[in-house]
Amino acid sequence: MDQLEVLLDAMTLEEKVGQLNMVASFRAVTGPGALQEVDDLIRAGHIGSLLNIWGREEVARVQRLAVDESRLGIPLLLCHDIIHGHRVIFPTPLAEACAFNPVLWQKTAQAAAQEASEEGVALTFAPMLDIARDARWGRMVEGPGEDTWLARQIGVAKTRGFQGEDLSFATSLAATAKHFGAYGAVTAGREYASADVSERTLLEIYLPPFAAAIAAGVAAIMPAFNDIAGQPMTANRYLLKDILRQRLGFEGVVISDFNAVGELLNHGVAHDLLEAAVLAFNAGVDIDMTSNAFIEGLPIAVDRGLVSLNDIDNSVRRVLRLKERLGLFKDPYRRGSSVSYNAQKGKDQRRALAREAAQRAIVLLTNKDQLLPLAPDLICLAMIGPFVDDVGAMLGSWASAGHEEQTVSFFEGVRKAAPNCHLDLVIGVDGLSQDVSGIELALAACRKAEVILLCLGETAEMSGEAASRADIGLPGAQRALAEAVFALGKPVVVVLTSGRPLAAPWLFERATAVLATWQLGSEAGHALADILFGVINPTGRLPISWPRAVGQTPIFYNQRATGRPTQIGVHYSSCYIDTLASPQFPFGHGLSYSAFSLLDFACLTPLVKHNDNVEVSVRVRNDGARPGEATLFFFIHDLVASLARPVLELKGVKKVFVGQGAEEQLSFVLAVEDLAFVGPELDLTLEAGRFEIYVGQSADPVGLLKDSFDLVL
Ligand code: GLC
Repeated sequence: MDQLEVLLDAMTLEEKVGQLNMVASFRAVTGPGALQEVDDLIRAGHIGSLLNIWGREEVARVQRLAVDESRLGIPLLLCHDIIHGHRVIFPTPLAEACAFNPVLWQKTAQAAAQEASEEGVALTFAPMLDIARDARWGRMVEGPGEDTWLARQIGVAKTRGFQGEDLSFATSLAATAKHFGAYGAVTAGREYASADVSERTLLEIYLPPFAAAIAAGVAAIMPAFNDIAGQPMTANRYLLKDILRQRLGFEGVVISDFNAVGELLNHGVAHDLLEAAVLAFNAGVDIDMTSNAFIEGLPIAVDRGLVSLNDIDNSVRRVLRLKERLGLFKDPYRRGSSVSYNAQKGKDQRRALAREAAQRAIVLLTNKDQLLPLAPDLICLAMIGPFVDDVGAMLGSWASAGHEEQTVSFFEGVRKAAPNCHLDLVIGVDGLSQDVSGIELALAACRKAEVILLCLGETAEMSGEAASRADIGLPGAQRALAEAVFALGKPVVVVLTSGRPLAAPWLFERATAVLATWQLGSEAGHALADILFGVINPTGRLPISWPRAVGQTPIFYNQRATGRPTQIGVHYSSCYIDTLASPQFPFGHGLSYSAFSLLDFACLTPLVKHNDNVEVSVRVRNDGARPGEATLFFFIHDLVASLARPVLELKGVKKVFVGQGAEEQLSFVLAVEDLAFVGPELDLTLEAGRFEIYVGQSADPVGLLKDSFDLVL
């Protein structure tokens, strides 16, 4: 009999339920409610895991309580939200998604896992894989953007990066794909609100990123806070068992979100904590995060026959198996106690990686008169606005221990890159209030400058969890500042720090150039300067459609045509009367200092069958003054099917480096099986017929090259 079975046999029911109980520690506050005293609960075997914990001493202390002072000595699973770094902070996930670079995504997750595991963390609540099409929702910043194909790539890369070759390695973290179930579709973008998506949209858009993470071996899944059509995800037996376990084959641990089991009472589906515990456990939740519903209710529920002991054993088995895979039984102290630990070891490499990730996160949205890159011999630059030296804003939400690290501000980065340039730093407005008293001082600095760097956007607190916004424009008096600066008639580069796309058509009209810098992390200032002065040719591309107005949200490129497709100037077509229906900037948009043209796009396989591949080729020419990296998006459109299909579906992205004045030939191969969609019977369906296939440098219909092929079955 294997050791785990022997251990399971020896456990009392209270000790078994203890393994299903996760309690919060003090390193962060990530949900409601006061902290509990944990020491005696650990000794009694009533806690199996802690979250919001890191730090060698504290980790050793609580682990010793579990291993030496509890009856069975089962080690604790120590967890934290390592989302985009632990000490060295990388760009927020939405920013990193702009890189369209799985190798980079895996590396940054690996680097974060190394730092966090050295301080005792064994499981991270990441990657967050919630498709987000609504910029009002604050948590768009934490996720992969709007596209399912992209989110699948991110799910695989991040799972591999966090978990490494083997979970037992001391530098590996168990990853948690979250938040299972259309959290990004909350009504009106309002945090925690109900989501109402069809089962087909759920299966086709929201769940495939989780399927990809599961296929990559993700260790845990976290259900979302929201309900879907009235069924809270935390008690959603159909999605947590039939879909997650049966259809997607997940065998790992399901960890509830913070207090989510207890909040089934607020959802109105449970009268009391006991009923909430029974509902969540029988729906498929293994670990109850912080609500105490399981530890208090499950022993009673078993006694009353509301929950089976066999199911309890299966959940406990999954938790113990995860601890075994992490090597915790062999060496409970392997994470956070290495004698060779040196906090500085490898930090230079991690900071260099953070700088590269930040460079690749920056999206050049507009660049009139080719103002950028700036000449390195600039004499005088005015750096204006609330985010010129706000390092907190650079880190964004879920920054773990990043606040204790040196973060390079925009001012610091520019100063270092252009030591001979006179810099005038004036905040002007504070970014939140309506106080405009500082604008005159800002204008005085601008009058002396050759170029103005206007650093605008959102504070870190204006995105992330519990940070939905009904107005996704520039907050406070920033517009007043910007318009006063624009009125001077000087070249203005706007740098936008934000956790979401900001609706500001007036800004894009008036600025000479605009960079979306999101929240770039520890190396923000260096990365910005690298792009500003042309050390790096920008490669960032938008993982979301950028709205012109909040009224357009949710907005996304892969819409269905409708019976009256959008046609500018056509009255009876899917439009608005007060703004264009198209986004300010399309999915995939991003300028370069090069100038790429796509030519001679051709489908080489005009007729394909079930097990064939579709192959296309295209030539990329760089007519610009600098070598650069082009990003090509390959889309399909299923022209006629048993269901209305999206006008564009992303099926692949390729990057290619093209020298100045040079050309590169590229081919792209798509397996016919990837043309399948969730059909009328909700199963993956392949249907014969004509498909259009496209290549473009974004989802902008104007720039797409098209060919077609026929699928016969
Ligand atoms: C939070 C978040 C979740 C996070 C968890 C633990 O409420 O919803 O993403 O992992 O609690 O901090």
